[in-house]
Amino acid sequence: MGSLTSIYVFACVFLSILWNNIQPTVENKIIANYSGHLLTKVPKNIPVHTHVLDLSHNNISEITNLKFIYLPDLQVLNLSHNLITELDFSVFIFNQDLEYLDLSHNNIWTAYCQMLARLRHLDLSFNKFTVLPVCQEFGIMFHLEYLGLSTRMIRRSDFRYVTHLQLNTVFLTLEDFSLYEPLSLTALNTKNLHIVFAADQNFNFSLLYDGMSTSEKLKIFNLRYTLSHKDLPSPSLKLLKNIKATDLMLEIGDLQWTILLQIFLLVWDSTVEHLTVRNLIFRGPVMELTEYKFAPLLRPLEQLLSLGSSMKALTLEHVRNKVYYFNQEHLYRLFSEMNIDSLTIYDACMPHMLCPQKTSSFQYINFSRNALTDELFQNCDTLANLKLLILNRNKFKSLSKVSFMTSRMKSLRYLDMSSNLLRNSGAEKRCQWTDSLSELDLSSNQLTESVFECLPVNINKLDLQNNQIASVPTGIAELQSLKELNLASNRLADLPGCRAFAGLEILNIERNLILTPSADFFESCPSVKELQAGQNPFKCSCELQDFLRLQRQSGGKLSGWPEAYVCKYQEELMRTQLKDFRLNELACNTTLTFVTVSLLTLVLVAVVAFLCIYLDVLWYVRMLWQWTQAKRRAWHDCPEGRETVLQFHAFISYRERDSLWVKNELIPNLEKGEGCIQLCQHERNFIPGKSIVENIINCIEKSYKSIFVLSPNFVQSEWCHYELYFAHHKLFSENSNSLVLILLEPIPPYVIPARYHKLKALMAKRTYLEWPKERSKRALFWANLRAAISIKLPTSFETDEEQSEVTSTSSMTQPLIK
Ligand SMILES: *[C@@H]1O[C@H](CO)[C@@H](O)[C@H](O)[C@H]1NC(C)=O
Ligand SMILES: *[C@@H]1O[C@H](CO)[C@@H](O)[C@H](O)[C@H]1NC(C)=O
Ligand SMILES: *[C@@H]1O[C@H](CO)[C@@H](O)[C@H](O)[C@H]1NC(C)=O
Ligand SMILES: *[C@@H]1O[C@H](CO)[C@@H](O)[C@H](O)[C@H]1NC(C)=O
Ligand SMILES: *[C@@H]1O[C@H](CO)[C@@H](O)[C@H](O)[C@H]1NC(C)=O
Repeated sequence: MGSLTSIYVFACVFLSILWNNIQPTVENKIIANYSGHLLTKVPKNIPVHTHVLDLSHNNISEITNLKFIYLPDLQVLNLSHNLITELDFSVFIFNQDLEYLDLSHNNIWTAYCQMLARLRHLDLSFNKFTVLPVCQEFGIMFHLEYLGLSTRMIRRSDFRYVTHLQLNTVFLTLEDFSLYEPLSLTALNTKNLHIVFAADQNFNFSLLYDGMSTSEKLKIFNLRYTLSHKDLPSPSLKLLKNIKATDLMLEIGDLQWTILLQIFLLVWDSTVEHLTVRNLIFRGPVMELTEYKFAPLLRPLEQLLSLGSSMKALTLEHVRNKVYYFNQEHLYRLFSEMNIDSLTIYDACMPHMLCPQKTSSFQYINFSRNALTDELFQNCDTLANLKLLILNRNKFKSLSKVSFMTSRMKSLRYLDMSSNLLRNSGAEKRCQWTDSLSELDLSSNQLTESVFECLPVNINKLDLQNNQIASVPTGIAELQSLKELNLASNRLADLPGCRAFAGLEILNIERNLILTPSADFFESCPSVKELQAGQNPFKCSCELQDFLRLQRQSGGKLSGWPEAYVCKYQEELMRTQLKDFRLNELACNTTLTFVTVSLLTLVLVAVVAFLCIYLDVLWYVRMLWQWTQAKRRAWHDCPEGRETVLQFHAFISYRERDSLWVKNELIPNLEKGEGCIQLCQHERNFIPGKSIVENIINCIEKSYKSIFVLSPNFVQSEWCHYELYFAHHKLFSENSNSLVLILLEPIPPYVIPARYHKLKALMAKRTYLEWPKERSKRALFWANLRAAISIKLPTSFETDEEQSEVTSTSSMTQPLIK
C-alpha cells in the first residue's frame, strides 16, 4: 500500500513538472484581431488555430455563419459593440474550449440557450433584453465566474437557475427599468455585484437594500433620484438586519443632499466598512444638519456618526458644492468627529478642516486635491493616532508651518506634501517636525537649497524632486537615518557628497544640470547601492573621463546605464551614449602628453644623431646641396658667347702621384653614362710643340670647368700653382664659377703654403667635393661631379687638328669604360 502511494505521489510530482514545462507554449496564444474593421459579417478566413478572436467594434448583425467556421481552439471571443439582435448559443457548439464570451453593447433582445461547459466569462450587458436572459442551461455552467446581464425588469424567480452557482461578479445594466420585485436580487450568490442605472431614471431603493443584502462588495453606478426626499420609502428594520455588504461604492449621477444623507445614515448603521462616494454634489434644499434625524432610528446625526460602528474608511471623490447658504463649519465638524480609521476627501475644493475635539481614531487622512492652506491642523494634538497624512495638490506655502502642523502628531510616519506651493520663506531655521516622521514627499514645490535647514531628523526616505534646488549646502544638520533621497528634476550642477547623510543607499539625481559629475562620489558615499544619474546634459569631454571610470568601478550601481546616459552638451556628440563615447587618453592627460612629446623629441634627436654619425647624412646633404646648386647654375649661366670656344666639359689638373686615381676612377666614371662628358687632360690633349703653360692655358680656356684634384702632394706642386693661377685668373675675368675642387685626401690647413690665399679661402669655404672612402657614397659623388660640369657643348666643331684629336680620343676612351 505504502509503495503504491509513493508511486502515485511520484507520478503526480512528475506530471506537475511536465505540466509546468508545457504551460509557456499554452500561453503562446494565436490572436486574430478584427476590432474596428467595419465588418458586417463574421469573416471566413480566420486562422483555424486562433485562440483569441476579437471582432469588437464592427457592424456585425448576424453570427449564424460562425457555426460553419471551424475554430476548435477558440478560447476568447469578443463580439462587443456590434449590431447583433438575436443570439443563438448553438453557433458556439463547436467551440467547446470557449471560456470568454463578450457580447456586450449589442442590440440583443432574445437568446436561445445552449450549454457551453467551459465558459467562465459571459457578458450580455448593455443589450436590449426585456427580461433577464438567465436560462436553465446557465445552471450547469459550473465554471461561470462572471455574468453580465441587461434587463428592463427583475422578477423574483429570474435567478432561480443560477442560485446554486458561486459567482464572482454579476454585472447588471438596467436600461428603461420598469419593474423590480423586492428580494429578487437576494437569490444571487456572488461576491461582487455591480449595478448600472440608466442615465435618465430614478433608482429603486429596494434594489439598493437588496444589493447590500446580496453581496459583500456592491458598486452602484449612476445613482439618481429627482423626486423629493419626502417620497423616499424608509427601509424596514428587518431589511436592515439582512445587510451583509462590507464594501460599497456609489457613483452618483444626480442626487439631492438629503437623499444622500439618508443613504449615508443607512450605511453608517450597517455592516459596511468601506464606503466610497463618487461625484458627490451638494444640491437642493438644505436643512440644518443638526436637525436631521435618521428615520428608522431617530438618532441625531452627530451622535450617530461619532458612535462606534462597522465603518472604517470613508472616501469621497469629486465633491462639488452648489448650495450657498449652508454652515460649512457643521460639515467639517461632522467629518472631523467621525469615529473611523481612514478618511479620504479627494478633489473637493475643500478650503479647511477642523481639528478633532477629542483624540481621534484617524490613522489615515487623504485630503489630496483640495484648497487647504497653512492653517490646517495648527496646534492640533488630537490626531495622535494619525500615521499617514496625504495633502498633495493643495495650497500650502510655508514649510515651517507644515513642520509645526506635524509636531504634535506623535504617530505620523508618512507625509505627502507634493504639488503644493511650498517655497522658502526664510523661516526654515524655525522648524519643528514630529520625531516619528520617516517618509516625506516634498516633490513638485518651489523649494530651494535652504530646505535642507528644515528637515525631520529621523527621516528615512525623502522626495525632493521637481524643485528649485541648485546645490546641497555643506554644514547642514546630519540626517543619519536617510536612506533614500530623490533630487531628480532640480538644478544641481554636480553630484552631492554624503557629508550630511552618511547612511544614504539610494540617490536619484536624474534630469538636473550636471555636465561633468565629480568622480569622488562613491568614496564620499560608501553605503550607496544605487545611483540614478541619467538624463543629465552630459558634456562629453576630458572631464567626463573620471566619471566613466567611476561607472566601471561602481559594479552596476549606476541605474539606467547605459540608455539614460547620453551626451547632450555638444552638437556633434548629441545622442551619443556615454558608453560609446571614447576619448584619447593622451589628449586628456597633460603630464602624459608632455612626457610623450618629450620622449618623441628625444627619439627624433637620437635618430638624427645616429644617422649623422653612422650613415654620414650630413655628407649626403652637403653633396645634394652642391648638386642642386650646380644644376641651378648650369641652368642660369648659359655660356652664350663662349659656345664657339668651349670644346670640353672640364679640364682636369692633378699631381702625378694622384694620376692612378684620375685614370682609374675619375676619367672612366665621368666619361661613362649618357651625358658623354669631354675631358681635357694634359697628357692626352696637349698639343706638341707648345709649351706646357701654353697647353694648360689652352686647355683651361676651351673647358667649361677646371677640376683640381687636391691632395697634400698637389698643394706643393709647382705646376699646379700655375694651373691654379690661370684658373684663378679666368674665374675673376669671366665672373664664372669655373673651379671644381676634389679633395682626395684631407689636407690639414697648415700644409697649404701661406701664399695660396685663394686655395685657402676656397678650402675655408668648403666648396670642394670630398672623395668618400665608402663605396656606397661614391655614386652620389659622381652624380654631383657630373652635375657640376655638365653643359651642352656646341655640336659643330671647326675641323682643326686639336679637335679631331679630342674627338678621336674621347671616342677611343668610351668603349674602354663601357
Ligand atoms: C485589438 O485591437 C484593438 C485596437 O485596434 C485593441 O484595443 C484590442 O485590445 C485588441 N485586441 C486584442 C485581443 O488584443
Ligand atoms: C455601421 O453602423 C453604424 C450605425 O448603425 C452606421 O452609422 C455606419 O454607417 C455603419 N457602417 C458600415 C460600414 O456599415
Ligand atoms: C475584447 O476582449 C478581449 C478579452 O478580454 C480583450 O483582450 C480585448 O481588448 C477586447 N477588445 C476591445 C476592443 O476592448
Ligand atoms: C421600486 O420598485 C418597486 C416595484 O416595482 C416599486 O413598488 C417601488 O415604488 C420602487 N421604488 C422606487 C423608489 O422607485
Ligand atoms: C488619495 O485618494 C485618492 C482618491 O481615492 C487616491 O486616488 C489616491 O491614490 C490616494 N492617495 C494615497 C497616497 O493613498
